Amino acid sequence: MEAEFAIIGGTGVYDPGLLDAPAFHRIETAYGEAHVTIGQYAGRQVAFLARHGKGHAVPPHKVNYRANIDALKQLGVQQVLATAAVGSIRKEFIPGSLVLVSDFIDMTKSRVSTFHEGQDGVVHIDMTDPYCGRLRRKISQLAKDEGVALVDDGIYVCTEGPRFETAAEIRMYSQLGGDVVGMTSVPEVILAKEAELCYATVAIVTNYCTGISDTVLTHREVMDEMKANIEKVRKLFFKVIEA
Ligand code: HPA
Repeated sequence: MEAEFAIIGGTGVYDPGLLDAPAFHRIETAYGEAHVTIGQYAGRQVAFLARHGKGHAVPPHKVNYRANIDALKQLGVQQVLATAAVGSIRKEFIPGSLVLVSDFIDMTKSRVSTFHEGQDGVVHIDMTDPYCGRLRRKISQLAKDEGVALVDDGIYVCTEGPRFETAAEIRMYSQLGGDVVGMTSVPEVILAKEAELCYATVAIVTNYCTGISDTVLTHREVMDEMKANIEKVRKLFFKVIEA
């Protein structure tokens, strides 16, 4: 059982899409079980993992990020393409925009964010390029070639959730330099880096953040906007796998 690429599907992305001969696997890790579907696309082995489980059963602060990343590592995955639903802090990043995440600000509170708990000494991982530059350049180029509108750089603020933010928090994140807000990229990106996986995220703006728009934000709005835009991301990811 092996795979070269992995797709991590966030909110609104629960099925492996275009994979041929998809087979479901339960993978045991030191952190618990991960559920991965493996299939082929363009002659490549591709693993698909639904971050929140089938039917969105697991909230962002309860996702077993370590089991998920460790399972991909066990499979021999080298490149990981992740989707993420986000709110936008920037007026110009309208709902429906795709943002290639380039860096993060960690505002999470209760998550285990490392594989290095002291068992292998004290380890500090470099975060100069948390989202793999090589993979980002490839995604960016293919988006241009395919005529898919993609914002090339975006700073992802990761909140603890599961509640949405207050307007005051969003003002603060804006002043800190954040562009989009979500609840899952941390610790996923950190663990991927520790596992030496080349990991990139295309965020899908599903809404303006609290206080940026005048309307009250609902999970339904997030799901509907995700549904309307996920095909663009899927197409882009499969182009990356094919290239
Ligand atoms: N805030 C946090 N996470 C989100 C949002 C938001 O506005 N939209 C989608 N995920």
